[in-house]
Amino acid sequence: MSVTRNRVEIMHGVNLDQLGRRDPTHYGSLTLEDLERQISETARELGLGVRFFQTNHEGEFVEHLHRLEGLADAIVLNPGAWTHYSYAIRDALELTHLPAVEVHLSDIDSREPWRQNSVITDLCLTRISGKGPDGYKDALERLRAEMA
Ligand code: DQA
Repeated sequence: MSVTRNRVEIMHGVNLDQLGRRDPTHYGSLTLEDLERQISETARELGLGVRFFQTNHEGEFVEHLHRLEGLADAIVLNPGAWTHYSYAIRDALELTHLPAVEVHLSDIDSREPWRQNSVITDLCLTRISGKGPDGYKDALERLRAEMA
């Protein structure tokens, strides 16, 4: 019997609810709602199911990761600024044991030095950065291949 794995949790961290108001040279002009609509469409085309989560509270992000067992088969996460220093999020991601892809709208490697460090990259299948909303499409494609 083959079991279908297709449930992807899309997690947005701190300040990503403010898309549309943030610096458009880094983040474009889409709101989070626009972005999630676009991700949903792509997921449908790829035969994936997506659920969305956003919070500005680090502990809620951690607890959401704790609760994913049995509810998700893979994770796409953009933790925002937490990416660069939150070992709490790193530890919680590690204990999910789920395939994950790290996404950033902006190109963190060509920004300030403190943004160039990510404490989660080595736990993820890959990091996609600087491709704007298309980065989420690449992430879903990567995870679909992983779950096949
Ligand atoms: C971000 C990059 C982070 O450095 C920043 O703090 C964000 C968004 C991105 O999507 O480019 O909030 O993760």
